[in-house]
Amino acid sequence: FSRNRTNKGDFVDVRSPLFCVGGQEKPMRMEEKIKAGTLNAADWLQILRCSEWDDILRQTADQLRQEVYGKDVYLRGLIEYTNFCKNNCYYCGIRCGNTKAVRYRLSKEEILACCEEGYTLGFRTFVLQGGEDPASTDAWVCSVVSAIRERFPDCAVTLSIGEKKKSSYQAYYNAGARRYLLRHETANPEHYRHLHPAELSLENRKRCLYDLKEIGYQVGSGFMVGSPGQTLSHLVEDLQFLQDLQPDMIGIGPYIAQKETPFAGHSNGTLALTLRLVSLLRILFPYALIPATTALGTIHPQGRELGLQAGANVVMPNLSPTEVRKDYLLYDNKICTGDESAQCRHCLERRMASVGYQVVTSRGDSLNI
Ligand code: 5AD
Ligand code: FES
Repeated sequence: FSRNRTNKGDFVDVRSPLFCVGGQEKPMRMEEKIKAGTLNAADWLQILRCSEWDDILRQTADQLRQEVYGKDVYLRGLIEYTNFCKNNCYYCGIRCGNTKAVRYRLSKEEILACCEEGYTLGFRTFVLQGGEDPASTDAWVCSVVSAIRERFPDCAVTLSIGEKKKSSYQAYYNAGARRYLLRHETANPEHYRHLHPAELSLENRKRCLYDLKEIGYQVGSGFMVGSPGQTLSHLVEDLQFLQDLQPDMIGIGPYIAQKETPFAGHSNGTLALTLRLVSLLRILFPYALIPATTALGTIHPQGRELGLQAGANVVMPNLSPTEVRKDYLLYDNKICTGDESAQCRHCLERRMASVGYQVVTSRGDSLNI
């Protein structure tokens, strides 16, 4: 088999996932394509394979983000209002099959109290996230959304509550929700089946995303990096799917094993590949709202700061009551779950300032609309 020399002077098998094209000409051409934003799917694969273009990717992404959004970082207050879930996704800690999970659900009044505190702290977007909890009926969700909109008319409400009928999405929209987060998780049907039980399908997931778009939501999608069974070509399919969907928001984070799931003990996604993808996403979607996620902050102490430097422009401090945070454990070692994290808002503001960014309290609507 053929062997090639890398820049570092060692030899690698070209079939290995670590293979890099070295030499004089190819990297230059790739560099130009990165700067010009003319990358194709074959280039993405090449880029994802190795660290060769990381610096230029990061610089290009940072410059693009700077042109569109300056040094502003948008704040979204995350309220994890229920960890009951009827689904049994193999990677997720709040799957119904996890009998060890301590379940909780916040009342409408408790959610409003979180918003009240968040409003005082300067939040103008509230993200209601939860498992697919059968107790959260459409009527209840609508009443929570309209209560928030009534009490805080200058705030946006984002929902992140899973797969629903189109009529339900429409009802939430009519109640005043304008944004919806639903990661597609993986755009490859086989890989989707590897991560989920048979009753869940990629087809329905995609149906939900297109329904949400049709209704007029600002839509967020995304995927985990390094999830069990994921290959680099799956990631290329993820990017292709996102190009088709054209979401306003794109959330990605490293997969992190959770001990009470069938994938316990599986290796986690890496910081390097996640950051590389954040930069690539910024280059492919200059206008997107891309968070530096909690999962990124969990695998590295400066993960979120590095995420911003790689092209992200959103942070989502936790606004959930501190007593319940330790129970919303999608993955192990999640940060911001202890008492010391009562005010993630200030913590994040300091962290962002340390790398030259400023959090802004405006609603931060998608510039795509
Ligand atoms: N590791 C990382 N991210 C996870 N999520 C769920 N479980 C895990 C895990 N073990 C992500 C999914 C989901 C989002 C709310 O959290 O991508 O969409
Ligand atoms: Fe939550 Fe720092 S962001 S403690």
